[in-house]
Amino acid sequence: MIGRLNHIAIVVPDLGKATKQYEDLFGAVVSLPQNLDDHGVTVVFIELPNTKIELLTPLGINSPIEKFLERNPSGGIHHICYEVADISKAKSVLIEKGARIIGDGEVKIGAHGKPVIFLHPKEFNGTLIELEEL
Ligand code: CO
Repeated sequence: MIGRLNHIAIVVPDLGKATKQYEDLFGAVVSLPQNLDDHGVTVVFIELPNTKIELLTPLGINSPIEKFLERNPSGGIHHICYEVADISKAKSVLIEKGARIIGDGEVKIGAHGKPVIFLHPKEFNGTLIELEEL
């Protein structure tokens, strides 16, 4: 079921500073920031030869990553995203095997405009996992 690693998402307290660090220290090409109002985050993308890194910072009030940043003031890895071919099929197989879907359990349109679900970290070694249909 599980396919390629699509991205690793890192929450950062200061997006400008984090962008500059990736550019100056790693020589990475970092995209311009995008405000994703529906998701309550501002994001930049770093394309690597084999995957992407997303740097996220809260946008507006009640951002879903605000609490994460309170617990991890210097930032931290927030989730990893695996690609799946059929998200509805993946969802039903996982639920059948005891996984929990975060939120109302429905497939949502994620930050990349693709269908996604998030799996509860409790069942996955403390790791928040996003599955994206691609
Ligand atoms: Co993601």
